[in-house]
Amino acid sequence: MNVSAAPYVIEARRVAHSYEGPTGWVHALDAFDIEIPRNEFLCILGQSGCGKSTFMRIVAGLLKPLRGSVLLNGSPIHGPRLDRGVVFQEPALFPWLTVLDNVKFGLRMGGWSNDRANTRAHHVLDIVGLARYEKLFPYQLSGGMKHRVAVARAWALDDASVLLMDEPFSAVDAIGRMALQDHLIETWLTEPRTVLYVTHDIEEAVYLADRIAVLRSSPGRIERYFRVDLARPRDRNSAEVTALKSEITWAMREIAALPKEDSAALEGEA
Ligand SMILES: Nc1ncnc2c1ncn2[C@@H]1O[C@H](COP(=O)(O)OP(=O)(O)OP(=O)(O)O)[C@@H](O)[C@H]1O
Ligand SMILES: [Mg+2]
Repeated sequence: MNVSAAPYVIEARRVAHSYEGPTGWVHALDAFDIEIPRNEFLCILGQSGCGKSTFMRIVAGLLKPLRGSVLLNGSPIHGPRLDRGVVFQEPALFPWLTVLDNVKFGLRMGGWSNDRANTRAHHVLDIVGLARYEKLFPYQLSGGMKHRVAVARAWALDDASVLLMDEPFSAVDAIGRMALQDHLIETWLTEPRTVLYVTHDIEEAVYLADRIAVLRSSPGRIERYFRVDLARPRDRNSAEVTALKSEITWAMREIAALPKEDSAALEGEA
């Protein structure tokens, strides 16, 4: 397990990123700050286009922000590395590899011996409830099972400082999604990790998170935090969960109504 002396696993300071589009600059993020302590399960909520995936891509090392700094365990991020497990909306499994080999892939790339990778992959497949299916190929799995393999593949990287999940279950039906959330939380309770999880679903955020960051858009930045101090596994229908969902819904409505910031002023800062 990767343990560093840095107080935060992820620390973003004054991050700004814009894209040049056909109608001018899109200010995806501006003055975006965040501090994520070790083993926190942090959910990011926000309207479509507010910059959630942009921030995930920056932490994944796929995108360099135009301004500001993002530190991972106290060090700047230089490109993608195996110290970050990534799960995006599509499971993106290797179709020619079995479930076991999909989960082993990152470990073998990271230089693990076959035996050690086997032991680790078996362990993680057991946690996500897929041990019986390790010899199957992706085409032989249901959609929900594919998502669990994708989670297992990211979780298997036991040296990973953070798991980045960008709407990993959004394409799954409501009942299937609840089962996947249950598996994810069981996995996280068994092997606590720092998780950065993007979702549009307020209920999912309240069910999963230790803390929820709500973003505003144009430009994207964190407008409010909500702490979820409820024991797990949580009761989705409890009075506390219902009250928090409604509080966040109201906050998101207010945040959605915030005026757009003047893009000329933002460009002037650059
Ligand atoms: N490669 C790109 N080129 C130009 N504009 C982009 C690019 N990627 C993202 N954008 C724009 O930047 C803004 C933020 O995009 P981003 O994908 O981060 O949003 P998001 O919060 O993840 O949205 P969603 O919830 O729909 O996934 C959007 O206005 C989007 O159109
Ligand atoms: Mg996105």
